[in-house]
Amino acid sequence: MPATFAGKGNAQTLVITLKDALLGLRVELRYSVFEDSDALVRSVAAVNEGTDRLYLEKILSASLDMDNEEFDLITLHGSWARERHITSRKVTEGKHIVSSLRGETSHQVQPFMALATNGTDQRQGTVYAMNLIYSGNFIAETELDYQESVRMSVGLHPDGFEWVLEPGGRFETPEAVLICSDGGLGQMTRTFHKLYQNHLIRSKYLHSKRPILINNWEATYFDFDDEKLVAIAKEAKKLGIEMLVMDDGWFGKRNDDSCALGDWQVNRDKIKGGLKSLVDRVNAEGLKFGIWFEPEMICPDSDLYREHPDWAVQVPGRVAGTMRNQYVLDLTRQEIVDYAYECVAQILRSANIAYVKWDMNRQLTDLGSFALDSAHMGEFSHRYVLGVYQMQERLLTEFPDLLLENCSGGGGRFDAGMLYYSPQIWTSDDMDPVERLLIQEGTALLYPLSTMGAHVCVCPNHSVGRVTPMETRAHVALAGTFGYELDITKLSGEEKEKAAAYNREYHRYNDLVREGTYYRIASYRENGMYDCWEVVDEEKREALVTYVQVRFEPVRKSRRLKLEGLEEKARYCLEETGETYTGEMLMQAGFLQEMIFGDYGSRLLHFVRI
Ligand code: GLA
Repeated sequence: MPATFAGKGNAQTLVITLKDALLGLRVELRYSVFEDSDALVRSVAAVNEGTDRLYLEKILSASLDMDNEEFDLITLHGSWARERHITSRKVTEGKHIVSSLRGETSHQVQPFMALATNGTDQRQGTVYAMNLIYSGNFIAETELDYQESVRMSVGLHPDGFEWVLEPGGRFETPEAVLICSDGGLGQMTRTFHKLYQNHLIRSKYLHSKRPILINNWEATYFDFDDEKLVAIAKEAKKLGIEMLVMDDGWFGKRNDDSCALGDWQVNRDKIKGGLKSLVDRVNAEGLKFGIWFEPEMICPDSDLYREHPDWAVQVPGRVAGTMRNQYVLDLTRQEIVDYAYECVAQILRSANIAYVKWDMNRQLTDLGSFALDSAHMGEFSHRYVLGVYQMQERLLTEFPDLLLENCSGGGGRFDAGMLYYSPQIWTSDDMDPVERLLIQEGTALLYPLSTMGAHVCVCPNHSVGRVTPMETRAHVALAGTFGYELDITKLSGEEKEKAAAYNREYHRYNDLVREGTYYRIASYRENGMYDCWEVVDEEKREALVTYVQVRFEPVRKSRRLKLEGLEEKARYCLEETGETYTGEMLMQAGFLQEMIFGDYGSRLLHFVRI
C-alpha cells in the first residue's frame, strides 16, 4: 500500500491500541506527525487475535468530530474532460457524501473533503481537510447532527466491502491525510504540496526537469507507423523537444479501439522493423522514447481473451458489459497480475524505453471473479487495487530509471495513491487552455504542480473545439510537466519558432515551477473573466506569475494582481519591462496587468529580486 514516509527523526507515530476481548479483535489507531509539516497522517489496522473468523464490513481511515461553525464544504467534482472542479456549499443538517464505487478514484470526484469557516478564502479562514491516499472505492462524509456537532470521515467505501479476517490475520486501511489550516485555502494547499513532495512521492525524477515530450495521440490517433513517428521525432528534435511517446495502437491488431488490449506484441505492419529498431532510430535522432500501455485491460476481441475468457472481471454465468469495447483483467488473481506484469516488462526489456504512460480506460463493473469464492467476494475491489499497486511496485523495482506517468482516460485516477508510484499523472484529456484553468486549479488545490501532466494541444482543440492562441496553450501547460500533443510536422514555420521559444521558457522556469511555493492569485472559476497563479522560490528571489485573460473587457484598462510570498522590503524587477517594485508594493497594492486585446490572451511575468 502507498504510504507516507520520513527519514529517521523527522516523523513520529503514535499508536493507540484498542482491544475487544469478546471478539478477540485488536485495533491500532496510528497518528503520524512530521517535523516539517502541519499535516497529520492517520490510518487503522485491525488484527484478529481470537480463534474465530471476523468479517470487517466498515473500516474507515479517519474520523473527526467538531463543533459546528457554519462551515462551507469544499469538494472536487467533474467528469471525463472536466476533472476536479472546485465545488462549495453550506453544511446543513444531515449527511453530505462524496464517494466512488467505480473501482478507481474516478473522474467524477476526489477522495477529499474540506470544511472551511465562513469567509474563508485563499489567505484567511480556518480549514479542516482530509485526503485519502488510495486509488479505489472510497467514501468521504460530513454529518451535522442535532447537537450542532459535525463529524467528518474518510476511508474505504463500505458498500460491497467485506474483508474476511482469519485468526492471526491483519488488515491495514489506506492512510488519510488530515490538515488544519488557519491561513485559508492557500495554506492548506501548500501543506498538501509539501507533504506529498517530501513524504509521499518516491520517484527519483521528483526533483528533476522531466523531458519535454511529444505524444502522438492527438496527432495521429491509431493511424501511424514507424516512418511517421520518426518524422515527428526529427522535427521535434529541431525545436528542442526531448522525448517521443508512442501512444495507443502499436500492438496486436489495434487500428481502432475495438480490439487487441491484452495482445502486447508489437504490430509489425505499423512498426515494420520492430520496436527496438524504432527506439534506436528515435534515440539516434537525439530523443528519448516513451510508450503507452493499458495493462489492466482485455478486449473481448483479443487473442488473450480467446485463450483466457475467465480472466476478465465478470460474474460467472452472466454476460458482462463492455466499456470502450473492453473488459478489465481480474487483478485479484496473482497469476493474472504476473502475466500482465510480464507483458509490460518484456517490452521494456526489449528496447531502450525511458518512460511509460500507464493508462486505464474504463471503470469496474460486473464485479465477479472465477477465483474468489462467495465468502471473499467483498474483498474484490480492494484486492483489485492491491493488484495494480503490486504491478507498479514491481515495475519500478525492475526498472528503477523508468519515468512513470499514470493516466486513466485523462484524469480518472489522479490521486495520492498513484503519486507514490509515479511523480506525474495525466491531468485530463482536455487540453483546451480555458478548460484546463478549472481543471488545473482544482488539481493544484491538493497536488503539486510538478505532478500535473500538461501538454500544448492542437487548435481547434479536439475536446471542445475552441480556438486559442498557441501562447496561451503553452503558458497553461508550463504550469505542469510540459509537452506537446499535436502533429509537429504540420505546424507552420512561425508556430515552430514559437514552440522552440516555449521549450526554452520551460528550461528557464521549470526549476521554479516544480520546486517553488504555489499561490493562487485569482480564479476564473470565481470571476468568470481571468485566472492567475504565482510560484515563488524558497529564498524569495524570484516569482513567476501566469496571467490568463479569458475575456477581454473593452472599457477596462488593467487588472490589479496582488502577489504573495515575497520579501516585503526587497526590490523586484519585472524582467519583461525592467520596472521595479518592492515586495510590499506587489503584495499590498498589487501589480497592474494591462488588458490584452481580445479573448484568451496570457502573460508570463517573471519578477527577480535585485
Ligand atoms: C486515454 C488517454 C489518452 C490516450 C487514449 C488512447 O483516453 O487519456 O491520452 O492515451 O486513452 O486510447
